[in-house]
Amino acid sequence: MRPTPRLLPAILLAVAGCGGPFPQTTLAPRSDLGVTVDNLFTDIFWWAVVVFAIVEGLLLFVIIRYRARPGGGQPSRLHGHTALEIGWTLAPALILVFIAVPTMRTIFATAAPAPAGALKVEVIGHQWWWEFRYPELGVVTANEMHLPRGKPVQLEMTSADVIHSFWAPGLGGKRDLTAGRITRIAFTPDSIGEVAGQCAEFCGASHANMRLRVFVQSDSDFALWVARQKTDAAVPPKGSLAERGQDLFAHGACIACHTIAGVPQARGIVGPNLTHVGSRMMLAGATLPNTEEWLRRWITNAPSLKPGSLMPAMPLPEDQVAALVAYLQSLQ
Ligand code: CUA
Repeated sequence: MRPTPRLLPAILLAVAGCGGPFPQTTLAPRSDLGVTVDNLFTDIFWWAVVVFAIVEGLLLFVIIRYRARPGGGQPSRLHGHTALEIGWTLAPALILVFIAVPTMRTIFATAAPAPAGALKVEVIGHQWWWEFRYPELGVVTANEMHLPRGKPVQLEMTSADVIHSFWAPGLGGKRDLTAGRITRIAFTPDSIGEVAGQCAEFCGASHANMRLRVFVQSDSDFALWVARQKTDAAVPPKGSLAERGQDLFAHGACIACHTIAGVPQARGIVGPNLTHVGSRMMLAGATLPNTEEWLRRWITNAPSLKPGSLMPAMPLPEDQVAALVAYLQSLQ
């Protein structure tokens, strides 16, 4: 049968989802936790395939073998068949055991704390961005988590407001962040590269704009990143546009919400720490590229890009916005 013209767009639309890339696939695990969960999924998937094949095979067999035929007469009636009844009671029970045992094992394995000496990262969910604190390293950042490959990581998570859920599918698992509680997730990333993630619990107007990135790096790259993040913010050159931006920042509304280490006035904690904002790839809950143009639009009218944003629109003169952008971009 040739697809009708009306069916064709529907088919194209349906298969369009198969094109990739798949930054948030759950089927390409990149940590021990991810591999554990993926193995469980694979086991249960093949059990389901076997059950499906047997059930559908029997169904088709019966439909064809015992179909009504001309002159076939009335089917005979039968009451009870002990062997069959025992069989179809035991088989599902056995299948459930085969599924339940590995599932329980995985639940316990994925709930276990990281081994001693793991890298601790505190994750704090905010409407609508992520705060990442490395208490042992003295680093605070937002939306982009850096981790060394091959080292166990312990995330300790909580929320500053409503319930959020940390979900970086490549690393495995998904765990809620609740105010007043600490939830934990532990894993060891096994390959260098970027892992995309997002909030997985509806948390208000911009829930869909609460994304995150995890950068898994070699030991030396991670050490470099940490060393740079620990320093105070860059001081702009005298007389530069960035210096004017710093002055506007330190004497304007920005300091009410943002911290910049090295700028004594900037100690706000409502919004992300901006000490090294220029070194980040993304802005606004990892939803926008960190470019001059997007930064300008973000400062001028954040709520238009992220509905409900706590950061208000700032109708500043063009030259002031340009100076602020130059300053923030200089914070590498
Ligand atoms: Cu935070 Cu959804």
